[in-house]
Amino acid sequence: MSIVAVVGNKGGTGKTTLSLNLAAGLARRGSVVIVDADPQQSAYQWRLTGDENAALPAVVAAAFGLEKTVQALRDVHDHVVIDCPPSIKAPQTEHALRLADHALIPLQPSPMDLWATSHLARVIEKLRPENPRLRALIVMSQMEPRTTLSRLMPEAVAELDLPVARTSLQRRSIHRLCVLEGRSVFQAGRRGAAAAAEINDLIAEIFDHDDPDQNHA
Ligand SMILES: Nc1ncnc2c1ncn2[C@@H]1O[C@H](COP(=O)(O)OP(=O)(O)O)[C@@H](O)[C@H]1O
Ligand SMILES: [Mg+2]
Repeated sequence: MSIVAVVGNKGGTGKTTLSLNLAAGLARRGSVVIVDADPQQSAYQWRLTGDENAALPAVVAAAFGLEKTVQALRDVHDHVVIDCPPSIKAPQTEHALRLADHALIPLQPSPMDLWATSHLARVIEKLRPENPRLRALIVMSQMEPRTTLSRLMPEAVAELDLPVARTSLQRRSIHRLCVLEGRSVFQAGRRGAAAAAEINDLIAEIFDHDDPDQNHA
């Protein structure tokens, strides 16, 4: 059983996209449910857009009553993925971090996104006495390998005092298309293969390796 909170302090970093696809990838390993903790309900909307009979994880909207909802769902599912609102000060983010085994923080190659994330390590450390098992990991997201900003990212994120996933996620138009169609990249055939492979690599990195070199926060 695992609870993964996808968190951050800014909109547009890719939290919801990662939540949906991570859950779709985890569904191949066990039962999974997405908890939409963002009052904007993008994840919930995505599931309404898709075919209701599609083999996609269910999305439970729970911006309010989050703790009770997650506590109930974790007894019946192998994995719970919580998609959080774009603020570390939001009560939903705080609740999710109290409950989670893993916090994933997608980060775009942009100075403003870096600045917005600078307090996150402190917030996580403050919660550590209440949730000592929490492992936080920055996931570089919407990377464009040939751009200067993307190249400079590894050096810049080192200053955030949080471990960084070896797997980074590239900016790929298939992600947007899949959201529009209410699918995950795993349902997008060959067009989604590269994006799905990245998600699978991230899942393996989080769940299959107990890497002593990765100094998890
Ligand atoms: N890896 C990616 N490649 C291309 N577009 C992406 C990727 N991740 C997210 N997006 C797009 O960026 C926008 C913001 O993503 P979203 O997941 O809604 O972020 P958040 O939940 O952090 O606000 C959306 O239009 C989404 O489709
Ligand atoms: Mg979102």
